[in-house]
Amino acid sequence: MLKLSKLATAVALVVAGSAAVAGEVEVLHYWTSGGEAKSVAELKKIMQGKGHTWKDFAVAGGGGDNAATVLKSRVVSGNPPAAAQIKGPAIQEWASEGVLANLDATAKAEKWDDLLPKVVADVMKYKGNYVAAPVNVHRVNWMWANSAVLKKAGVTATPKTWDEFFAAAEKVKKAGLIPVAHGGQNWQDFTTFESVALGVGGTKFYNEALIKLDQKALTSPTMIKVLETFRKVKGYTDAAAPGRDWNLATAMVIQEKAAFQFMGDWAKGEFSAAGKVPGKDYICAAAPGTGNAYTFNVDSFAMFKLKDSGAQKAQADLAASIMGTEFQEVFNLNKGSIPVRLNMSMDKFDDCAKTSAKDFVSTAKSGGLVPSVAHGMAIKPAAEGAIKDAVSQFWNDDKISVADGVKNIAKAAATK
Ligand code: GAL
Repeated sequence: MLKLSKLATAVALVVAGSAAVAGEVEVLHYWTSGGEAKSVAELKKIMQGKGHTWKDFAVAGGGGDNAATVLKSRVVSGNPPAAAQIKGPAIQEWASEGVLANLDATAKAEKWDDLLPKVVADVMKYKGNYVAAPVNVHRVNWMWANSAVLKKAGVTATPKTWDEFFAAAEKVKKAGLIPVAHGGQNWQDFTTFESVALGVGGTKFYNEALIKLDQKALTSPTMIKVLETFRKVKGYTDAAAPGRDWNLATAMVIQEKAAFQFMGDWAKGEFSAAGKVPGKDYICAAAPGTGNAYTFNVDSFAMFKLKDSGAQKAQADLAASIMGTEFQEVFNLNKGSIPVRLNMSMDKFDDCAKTSAKDFVSTAKSGGLVPSVAHGMAIKPAAEGAIKDAVSQFWNDDKISVADGVKNIAKAAATK
């Protein structure tokens, strides 16, 4: 009897021990569309499988502006979530406030420095310490097209230049369908704008004008051509676009109401969730003129300093899970992005993802890899917000001349 009770005690201790280190993680994110929600549910499943409690803190509103506002109020009131979807230069701003947890123990144990491209690892660190875990690599300079709509309109080849695009858009319009599905938030306007800037001006112009915010580039003849092209795209959207959520614009392409959408490959998550197959139901192609370039958008979760040891353990497990091979595969298959962890097998991914993975590597070597301004990868949030507003004012008000649009955007870019 004594032996049995010793065994029972040992088992009880082990169970108690594991229960003690299980904790709750409250995670703030803005992944609320069909494809996004399916993706984040995979992280929840993995964390629950490790015995932790997942508290979902989802804030609707694609692009993350609403989530950023809610996060600020939570941190200011001294009640931050365990983790929040924060990326790019905003990571440095949050870290400089002294509120982010140091993830070096996990990063060292999991060998993150060997598993990440340096350009990504550097964004996740503040003064050399990891403070955020990267989730994926989204490509932003995509053009999505519905194959049946192009056929109906007599468009026989995917447009590679802006002249070819406008010729195709004209055919779709004549066929009585909406050429460009677009939603009316400033981050969506800027997503289209940056692809036009990249396609018309090339990566050198993109880096000078939109990353360095060089006034000469921002007021150059190239910038005039960019705004002329950008306005011409606007002419092929529908009157109900203002205020539309991005995933409802994607749904218009999925449901054969519209031909094209300029959007990052989180849109592919919507096609996948709708059971659509690339190459058959729809086409993924580089936005016109951007075939040799890649605007990257890396989602990441920054972790906040917490007092409770169980919550800290859960945070460490969350960070390790995010960079783990299981999550990196299943999340990105649903999200439309590609794994950020190097040397992952792409066997289960579709041709769009395989093209993205190949181009990510080749553009990193060629200089065609550029950060997405629209998605918070490139410049300080204050300047990004000011430029986005100036671009959206130009997009929304046809009475603003191209010359005034150039002036307004250059002025906004000078915001300190
Ligand atoms: C981006 C984010 C993507 C996607 C998109 C639409 O900023 O990085 O993961 O969610 O917004 O909400």
